[in-house]
Amino acid sequence: MKIAILGGTGSIAEGFALRWAAKHDILVCSREIDRAVKAAEEYKDVLSDKGLLCCGMTGCENETAIGDADIVLLSVPYQGILQMLKNLVPCFKEQIVISLVVPMKKNKWFEYTPPRQGSAALEIREILPKGVKVVSAFHNVSARKLAQPELSLDYDVVVCSDDEDAKKTVMELTREIKNLRPLDGGGLSSSYMSESLTPFLINLAIRNGLSDLGVKFL
Ligand SMILES: NC(=O)c1ccc[n+]([C@@H]2O[C@H](COP(=O)([O-])OP(=O)(O)OC[C@H]3O[C@@H](n4cnc5c(N)ncnc54)[C@H](OP(=O)(O)O)[C@@H]3O)[C@@H](O)[C@H]2O)c1
Repeated sequence: MKIAILGGTGSIAEGFALRWAAKHDILVCSREIDRAVKAAEEYKDVLSDKGLLCCGMTGCENETAIGDADIVLLSVPYQGILQMLKNLVPCFKEQIVISLVVPMKKNKWFEYTPPRQGSAALEIREILPKGVKVVSAFHNVSARKLAQPELSLDYDVVVCSDDEDAKKTVMELTREIKNLRPLDGGGLSSSYMSESLTPFLINLAIRNGLSDLGVKFL
């Protein structure tokens, strides 16, 4: 599949690019073509140094990649995603769009700040054309650990969508990442529960001197 990673130059994007490149054609996207090309080259070098397979890794501007992609991963901070998507609406048709976006702010501690729709995923679905299948996943995965492709991640990933086929596809993509277990989290209206866990995990990590906490259901 062709996977476009919007915000592909950022922290969590790198891990997805490195891990999915073994089976998929990755479009590393940015607002600036130079940044996109540089990041794609860096990711290719990492894979080559580690002797890992790369089916395809190309740097593109956000708007040029979407039309060509089967899957679009939104890997952009909440503060920028809405305006960005509004500008990019004409590029979308029937792609699967994965949101891992968490609206949160920091006062003394991190706090979940959902929009009036109830979650970032529901707000994003409202902006995108009707044919687009929005799936929410990966909110509780550590960017640092994800970016080490040889590392096995012992986390669960709750996947929510109102489109069952799109949800199955994203659950399969989750399984392709070493030791991530996808769990069916129901419809998109449940996304707020996974989104809200992220600031909670960060606060737990800070309070307890831990890092890279994730979720595992036993
Ligand atoms: N980091 C984590 O551990 C983690 C874990 C789970 C979920 N998430 C979620 O994943 C998303 C990305 O997180 P991140 O930590 O990777 O973010 P980040 O590194 O701060 O930003 C990712 C990329 O987004 C683009 N960007 C930044 N501001 C933007 C704006 N105003 N408009 C459009 N594009 C903008 C930038 O790319 P260009 O400048 O190249 O365009 C940047 O490299 C967030 O929604 C976050 O909630 C993160």
